[in-house]
Amino acid sequence: MSSNDPLLQPFKLKHLTLKNRLMSTAHEPAYSEGGMPTDRYRLYHREKAKGGIALTMTAGSAVVSSDSPPAFGNLHAYRDEIVPWLKALADDCHEFGAAVMIQLTHLGRRTGWSKGDWLPVLAPSPIREPAHRAFPKEAEDWDLDRIVKDYADAAARMQAAGLDGIEIEAYGHLLDSFWSPATNHRDDEYGGSLDNRMRFSNRVIDAVREAVGPDFIVGLRLVADEDWSKGLSKKEGIDIAGRYARSGKVDFLNVIRGHIDHDAALNDVIPIQGMRSAPHLDFAGDVRQAAGIPVFHAARIGDVATARHAIAEGKLDMVGMTRPHIADPHIANKVMRGAEASIRPCVGATYCLDRIYEGGEALCIHNAATGREGELPHDIERAEKSRRAVVVGAGPAGLEAARVLAERGHQVIVLEATGDAGGQINLLVRNPRRREMVGITDWRLSELERLGVEIRYNTYAEAADVLALAPDLVVVATGGFAQSPSLEAGEELVTSSWDILSGTVKPSGPVLLFDDNGGHPGMSAAEVIATSGAELELVSPERFFAPEMGGMNHVPYAKVFAEKNVRVTINTRLVSVRREGNGLVAVLGSDYSASTLTERRVAQVVVEHGTVANTDVYLEMKAGSRNLGAVDYKALIGRRMPLPLKNEAGGYDLIRIGDAISGRNIHAAIYDALRYCTLL
Ligand SMILES: Cc1cc2nc3c(=O)[nH]c(=O)nc-3n(C[C@H](O)[C@H](O)[C@H](O)COP(=O)(O)O)c2cc1C
Ligand code: SF4
Repeated sequence: MSSNDPLLQPFKLKHLTLKNRLMSTAHEPAYSEGGMPTDRYRLYHREKAKGGIALTMTAGSAVVSSDSPPAFGNLHAYRDEIVPWLKALADDCHEFGAAVMIQLTHLGRRTGWSKGDWLPVLAPSPIREPAHRAFPKEAEDWDLDRIVKDYADAAARMQAAGLDGIEIEAYGHLLDSFWSPATNHRDDEYGGSLDNRMRFSNRVIDAVREAVGPDFIVGLRLVADEDWSKGLSKKEGIDIAGRYARSGKVDFLNVIRGHIDHDAALNDVIPIQGMRSAPHLDFAGDVRQAAGIPVFHAARIGDVATARHAIAEGKLDMVGMTRPHIADPHIANKVMRGAEASIRPCVGATYCLDRIYEGGEALCIHNAATGREGELPHDIERAEKSRRAVVVGAGPAGLEAARVLAERGHQVIVLEATGDAGGQINLLVRNPRRREMVGITDWRLSELERLGVEIRYNTYAEAADVLALAPDLVVVATGGFAQSPSLEAGEELVTSSWDILSGTVKPSGPVLLFDDNGGHPGMSAAEVIATSGAELELVSPERFFAPEMGGMNHVPYAKVFAEKNVRVTINTRLVSVRREGNGLVAVLGSDYSASTLTERRVAQVVVEHGTVANTDVYLEMKAGSRNLGAVDYKALIGRRMPLPLKNEAGGYDLIRIGDAISGRNIHAAIYDALRYCTLL
């Protein structure tokens, strides 16, 4: 697309010219340290700025008060120390011509009291938010007075840091919980009529405006329809949007549709893979029409074509592509130089978001450099000397290794035992809902084609085959095989989740699925079984159901299980299986009571117990290698050559990555590949 591309047109927001229409909306990646946006945070946003984005909305819900305890690493906008950190971040981004704003909030009931300073959580009315489980106190007059001041003080801090503006969060947090009939049951001047329910947000916006003056950019990320029988209606939501637009105190609206008080509802606001693309775009366009001020919006506008459509059709002024920039922070530059095909696609896996809710930091399932900008590059540098490399296995680890080595200028050949690249991704995409994961493979295949890497399919490589290619570097990425849990008896009677996922074995009910892994493979097999119509009991030894699964990814599985009446049994372990008549008997036990055994008569027992590494080639090649397979982990972490010289007579360096070491996940496989190969 040339420079008349709608996405590349500048946009004037008050006095500020945004250089194109691409933005990243607020999202807390949980990279903060002690509530401060330190170097990791800065480098993360700097990378987007370097990649050509027009506007990066930093933080996600930076908290304005200490009684809004951080729920997932939120920045502390209530502390003066934040100013220099944000200034450094803004300066870095401004150097690349990107604007920087920040989202401010009071989380209200959407947090827990046992965090931060252990102050009680509050809300308009004492109604619990299921997702964070705190029972809030009803906000008193003195609470509201001090929180209004906290907003104003925080806004002034952001202005002092040299940011280009702020966005006040009003969906699922304190401000909008006054608007919503679902959460505001007050009978004082803050409850009842819409005027009353808007009183608190009016006070906040007035105080903020007074603190920052008329010229500073102040926006509102607001719910304009809670899409909830007991919540804020579309009519009232659009009314609120219109009132703020006309007030002249708000410079842009960032539109949200839906409510977020539990995982299933949050999924509709932030749709994941397998869900509709851009489901709320038309609604955001309606708000833009009604409000008549600039409108921003993000919700699974996953590709550049949809983003372009949103601008061309006048639905939005700025397009939020938030997860897409986590997957590839260089989208705008790639569009500008006509290299759209090389944009690493966001496959909607939402590993990024799930991790922050599970207490980790946001990481992209297939871009291991995101959030690690201090150590790992998004643009791979060429090596000083070109080497001849053989990669064994074309799963996610092998493909990433081949890509990175080729970018470094090495001559790479990939040997793949089967007829297709993708490894275990080929299994998981058998679940139609997860089909987009194929983007992880396809993007790498197209990059390998661009880089001129040869992949030899149907080539089961033994050491001699690899040696025949005279490699200087061998990367073993041979993955693993499904393994069974150890049972007291009947291991030969069970079917693996892989057999179900691959379609090799058809579900035949009643089925008992023993998930001794707790992540996607077992849940996906369960989904396939349940949707086939077979009766299913899912048994887990864990005290939480599917503990390796984040809340966002849990939703579609839980929906199928609810609709198909799947029985879920926790705290229970499969002990043995025996044949009886033409069926099977599964004996179930408990880690908590050795004497308690129960039995289930079923037609099929399916087990999921992760993978065992396929180590054949690695072990065959170890003795002939220069490093004898060894890795210096200290050097790897310190970003130095990680392969020690242990055998002068060795002919090649040898590394093993991904599930060929031990069963982990796609991110771990890709991270292995990137962190090793950028040093080789
Ligand atoms: C890791 C992560 C954290 C998020 N945290 C926030 C937040 O604190 N405040 C907010 O308004 N939205 C938050 N969001 C939602 C995003 O701003 C955005 O609305 C959502 O990701 C949908 O846009 P996308 O499909 O372009 O990713 C978060 C999203 C992600 C992925
Ligand atoms: S983890 Fe998935 S949803 Fe998140 S940015 Fe990466 S590809 Fe997109």
